[in-house]
Amino acid sequence: MKILAGTSNSSLCNEICKYLKVRPTERMITRFADSEVYVEIKENMRGNDVFVIQSTSYPANDNIMELLICIDSLRRSSAKSITAVIPYFGYARQDRKVVPRSPISAKLVANLIVNAGATRVLTMDLHANQIQGFFDIPVDNLFAAPVLVKHILKNISSKNIVSVAPDVGGVERARAIGKRLNSGLAIIDKRREKPGQSEVMNVIGNVKGKTCIIIDDLIDSGGTICNAAEALIKNGAKEVYCYVVHGVLTGKSIANINKSKIKKMIITNTIDNTKKIINNSKIEIISIAPLIAEAIKRISKSTSVSSLFN
Ligand code: R5P
Repeated sequence: MKILAGTSNSSLCNEICKYLKVRPTERMITRFADSEVYVEIKENMRGNDVFVIQSTSYPANDNIMELLICIDSLRRSSAKSITAVIPYFGYARQDRKVVPRSPISAKLVANLIVNAGATRVLTMDLHANQIQGFFDIPVDNLFAAPVLVKHILKNISSKNIVSVAPDVGGVERARAIGKRLNSGLAIIDKRREKPGQSEVMNVIGNVKGKTCIIIDDLIDSGGTICNAAEALIKNGAKEVYCYVVHGVLTGKSIANINKSKIKKMIITNTIDNTKKIINNSKIEIISIAPLIAEAIKRISKSTSVSSLFN
């Protein structure tokens, strides 16, 4: 088994290699002057099960291209199997036609990965589970839930917890975590009554006096979560925590979180935010490296991955 690390999230790759007690494959990944990606693998790959680790986070197009070129070099180096380990799968929100004549870009990216030569995909908390079906190769979609729940149980002592879906699309995820916490469920119903009017956040469920934990797959601009927190406090919530898998964190999101009603936000390291989040007492990063590393180990030994969901 060999690990080939892309450049999108070096610290996560190092953690995964440390857990697996393997040395990352020696390689060179550079850019030509016109920004084309160049990859050179410095070790023999023939007959190996290779795991390429690359999140397709910002800069999304560069990181996707780098992943594809890594896969192509592995295929041409006669690797036995090539698993694309994509802790954060970008473009996932473009998973259907929302207006006529629009693309389904998540499917296009899936096609590119398969056509480049990947034989399996290992990813985490896909924006929509159905994206697995965009690939005609096996896909293992891990859930960060066990890691998030462990952190909640260790750090939040309140016995009066409600898990909250910040929009209707997040109900399944919030319900699953709520079940593990034995907590109630609330849902934010986000609505714009008329074009040009600001969004109204209706809270479905009882949050009065409760410790609310918003669960989401990703935070981008922060608008969804900050507005949801505001609506929860307005509806009498005692305090609001957020647990988010992928910290996309664009624009002024971090500043918005800092001045929001959120008490604490926990994100995982599927995306490398170490340069963006420094000395921030409101945002904590927790590691999913052991979970991904364990899945890699089990895939390479052909043992069950599903028990990692518990
Ligand atoms: C929506 O379906 C997603 O689960 C996230 O809630 C959303 O993409 C977050 O975006 P933002 O932070 O820009 O509101």
